[in-house]
Amino acid sequence: MLLVTAPAKLNLTLEVGETRDDGYHGLDSIFSSLCLADRLVIRASGPPGTVVLCTRGVPVPEGAENICLTAARRLAAGRRDLPGVELDLAKDIPVGSGLGGGSADAAAVLVGLNRWWGLSRSRSELGDIALSLGSDVPFCLLGGQARVRGRGEIVEPLPFPGRRLWLVLLRPPGTKSTRLVYEEFDRLPHDRRRSGRPDTGGAIRALAAGDWETLAQSLGNSLEPALAASHPDMDRARALLATSGALGTAMTGSGPTVFGIARDQDHARAMAREVSNRLTSPDWWMAVTRLAPRQEKDIPVAANDGHPQRPFGGDDGG
Ligand code: C5P
Repeated sequence: MLLVTAPAKLNLTLEVGETRDDGYHGLDSIFSSLCLADRLVIRASGPPGTVVLCTRGVPVPEGAENICLTAARRLAAGRRDLPGVELDLAKDIPVGSGLGGGSADAAAVLVGLNRWWGLSRSRSELGDIALSLGSDVPFCLLGGQARVRGRGEIVEPLPFPGRRLWLVLLRPPGTKSTRLVYEEFDRLPHDRRRSGRPDTGGAIRALAAGDWETLAQSLGNSLEPALAASHPDMDRARALLATSGALGTAMTGSGPTVFGIARDQDHARAMAREVSNRLTSPDWWMAVTRLAPRQEKDIPVAANDGHPQRPFGGDDGG
């Protein structure tokens, strides 16, 4: 069997530009992998040409529409002779939260099955399939930290900061599809569209220097005003993190998860305690986690009956 980790992604910054000819928006964003991750196990199972998906943990959309099965189908490209497999997906990343869970899972399927089936597809071939699955999937193929541009296909790796960056993630209930958030963004008046803009260059320098105070001043997400209008809990989530001691806060992706930057692990845990003391509703989700370096995604493990536990080692708290 083969274990592949599928780390969540966070947008430390997300700057959205104009609509392109293909209908997508141009982006400029810092994407970061988190220690919070789903785990995919690939096992031999069933007759040639079959792919079965079993999920546990957070529920995901099922059936042929599932992004993991679509990824497997596109990778197989019509071949019916490939050995049957079971994809056993243990989900920790909440669905529809701006943390790229589906994209991470799809990238894990591409990398894992490419190896399991011995297809030897190049990174660039995998990149094309990844982009056909979604704008965040090309980053998820690579992982680590990167500046992402275009609609998501231009992925420039950034060095992993020497110091650990600890974060508290806070997700209010409710979700809105990415497409609807972008449509709302297009309806915003021009000044509101620019209001959430980050300082991406400044954030990249602060990240490299491990200067979390400056990084916290550079955060921003152009999509935030588009979601906040219809999602009043967003402002509340950011205020909760800010008044619990976060150095800075922002929304990730198309939301609704927001994150707060901590000075260190102890600070992150203290922030999370403070937030949970003040949360009155049980529907909110919270996690303490940290940025993850780039991982080799296809890690063979010894066969055993149980699902392998966190391949990342160390205490990720998330
Ligand atoms: O690529 P993905 O399927 O994740 O995108 C979902 C929707 O988000 C797209 O249909 C599009 O409406 C919007 N989007 C966009 N510009 C991007 C990424 C996504 O307009 N760069």
